[in-house]
Amino acid sequence: MRTYTGDLARIEREGLTRMLHVRKPDVLEFSSNDYLGLADHPMLKEASMRAIERYGSGVAASRLMSGNIGLHEELEKRLARLTGMGSALLFGSGYLANAGFLSAITSRDDLLFADRLNHASLVDGALLSRAGVFRYRHCDTDHLEYFLSNRICRGNRFILTDSLFSMDGDIAPLRKLAELSKRYGCDLIGDEAHAIGVFGNGGGICRELGIRPHAVTGTLSKALGSYGGFVAGNADLIEYSINRARTFIYSTGLPPAAPAAALKALDIIDSQPESGRKLLDLASGFRGMIESTGFSTAPSESQIVPVRVGDNRDAVALSEYLKRNAISAVAVRPPTVPTGTARIRFSVTLRHSAEDLSYTAGKLNSITGGDQ
Ligand SMILES: Cc1ncc(COP(=O)(O)O)c(C=O)c1O
Repeated sequence: MRTYTGDLARIEREGLTRMLHVRKPDVLEFSSNDYLGLADHPMLKEASMRAIERYGSGVAASRLMSGNIGLHEELEKRLARLTGMGSALLFGSGYLANAGFLSAITSRDDLLFADRLNHASLVDGALLSRAGVFRYRHCDTDHLEYFLSNRICRGNRFILTDSLFSMDGDIAPLRKLAELSKRYGCDLIGDEAHAIGVFGNGGGICRELGIRPHAVTGTLSKALGSYGGFVAGNADLIEYSINRARTFIYSTGLPPAAPAAALKALDIIDSQPESGRKLLDLASGFRGMIESTGFSTAPSESQIVPVRVGDNRDAVALSEYLKRNAISAVAVRPPTVPTGTARIRFSVTLRHSAEDLSYTAGKLNSITGGDQ
């Protein structure tokens, strides 16, 4: 019979035990991806409540059965416009979007070239596809080009990357990736989960750079303050996903409150296009404060600010120290990040004031005795 005590003891010995904590009020929260502070915005709450009153709390069927409502289609049109991709399709989450759409459009005849630090959902989508996978060194376009020029196949070839990496806060070399995809006849797929709502007036980093990949994926659950995921691409790709993506076909449609809240978030972003820039400026100031304590925030260039500690237990101890000072910032350890790179991942949001950030940097400074 399967038992778990031995495995759990090993996880504990490696300093890798994960535990659930109920979110506490009155702490400075740095582990939330509610980048624009919209998740409890009164307008989003009201839109959700109206949707529940009109449609109920759930749609109770796959969208291909009876679970398709106007709000789903309205949101898909908005997401297509936001990303500039022509068409879009909602999924139950960003994870389900990546896993389902990727495994639908690829087969065992294809090859996928993936950044080594891509999000787990892209990794799992690639595994499900049964295509051959080559993982190039993080953001290393020479390594990617080596693969592109040496690995051929009978089917199609794809380059997969997060646009903004979730644990380092750095940005993929998207211009170069777009150029390589053209030169080598591949399709580029970008996961914009952390960039939607923040970069490119909300449309993401590809949009900001004027790059049009084969597909863009994203989530409603971070800057848009709601829940759900999506894929955006041309009309054929979306129609094909409706017909082939198993996580879309065999799963219940999003509950009405989720697309209603996301639509309202898009209205707010449209009316305040400077919000993303404001957030990035706030985060840049925070990175400067942390650097002056002696900790490094490299290679972050966004609202995601890692402080690498290295050892798993040291990262947990730092997180505990911050918690004692009313700062919630979770220690991120392998396998979420590579071995030896455990870290505290600070997620700056528009809910943070300059005082919050300087208080937090001050607490880090008390450890290092830096020049703060
Ligand atoms: C880069 C990236 N892609 C996809 C996802 C999955 O999104 P969701 O939380 O909506 O499943 C995440 C979530 O953490 C992510 O960081």
